[in-house]
Amino acid sequence: MTRMLVDGRADGRVSPLDRGLLYGDGLFETIAVLDGRPRFLDWHFERLADGAGRLGLPPPDLERLRSEIGEVAAAPRAVVKLVLTRGIGARGYRPPRPAAPTRIVFASDWPAGHAPVAAAAARLGWCRTRLGRNPALAGLKHLNRLEQVLARSEWDDADLDEGLMCDDRGRVIAATQANLFAKIGGRWLTPRLDECGVAGIMRRAFRAWSAERGAPVEERDLAVADVESASALLVTNALIGAWPAGTLAGRPLAADPDAAAFNAWLAGQ
Ligand SMILES: Cc1ncc(COP(=O)(O)O)c(C=O)c1O
Repeated sequence: MTRMLVDGRADGRVSPLDRGLLYGDGLFETIAVLDGRPRFLDWHFERLADGAGRLGLPPPDLERLRSEIGEVAAAPRAVVKLVLTRGIGARGYRPPRPAAPTRIVFASDWPAGHAPVAAAAARLGWCRTRLGRNPALAGLKHLNRLEQVLARSEWDDADLDEGLMCDDRGRVIAATQANLFAKIGGRWLTPRLDECGVAGIMRRAFRAWSAERGAPVEERDLAVADVESASALLVTNALIGAWPAGTLAGRPLAADPDAAAFNAWLAGQ
C-alpha cells in the first residue's frame, strides 16, 4: 500500500506543468523506516538541503517534512520517498524566481524478501551504459536518473542482482542503485564522486563506521581492472545496508566479515 502527501495534502495532485516532471528539476531521498523510525534522517535532510542549495531551490522546511514522513510511515517497516521539485514555472528552462517547490512524500511497504540484510550475496555484473561527468551535479540525488534506467534495462536475467557502471573515461563509479566498495590490498576503497555518482547515505555510514574502527576507507579512482582484482566487494544503499558480493561477472568472491559486522552495527542504529 502507498500512502502519499502532495504539499501536505492526501488529496494533493502534481501538475503536468511541474518542472520535476518536465525537466527532472528536483531532488529525492529514499529513506528506510525500521521499527517505526526513519533511519539516518538527519543525513538525508543534510543531503536534501545541500542539493537544494546547489540547485538554487529555496531551503526545504525540514520540520514540516519530518512530520509528513511520520504521517505517511505508519507501519513499523516502510520505505519513504521524498521528492522536492522546483514546482511550476513559465514555459522554458528559465527557473521561476522565486520558486514555489512541490513536495511529495510517500511511503511504500518494505519490499518483500528485500533486506534490511540480504540473505544471499549479491551477483554483480558490468553495465555498458556510461555515466556522464558533471561536477555541478555530482553527488546529488537529483531526479534525472536516465543513465540508471538505461543501465538497469540492460538485463532481465534473474541471476544478476546489480550492475556496475563506469564513467565516460572508464573509471568505475557505482552500481545502478548503490555505491561500491572494493577491498584491495586489505583496505576498503570507494570511487571518488566529484564528477558523477550519488553520495549515498549508506556510503557515508560505512565510511564513518570504518573510520571509527581505525580503518578509514580511501576514496580513489578505480579502474575496471582494480575492481576485478578486489578480494571482496560490497554495495550499499539506504535500504540494503552493506550487501556483500558473491560474484562479479560470474567470478566467485569471498565474503568479507566487515559487511556482516557493519550490518550488525546498523541494526542497532
Ligand atoms: C545511483 C545511486 N547511487 C547510490 C545510491 C545509494 O544512495 P543511498 O545510500 O543514499 O541510498 C542510490 C540509491 O538509490 C542510487 O540510486
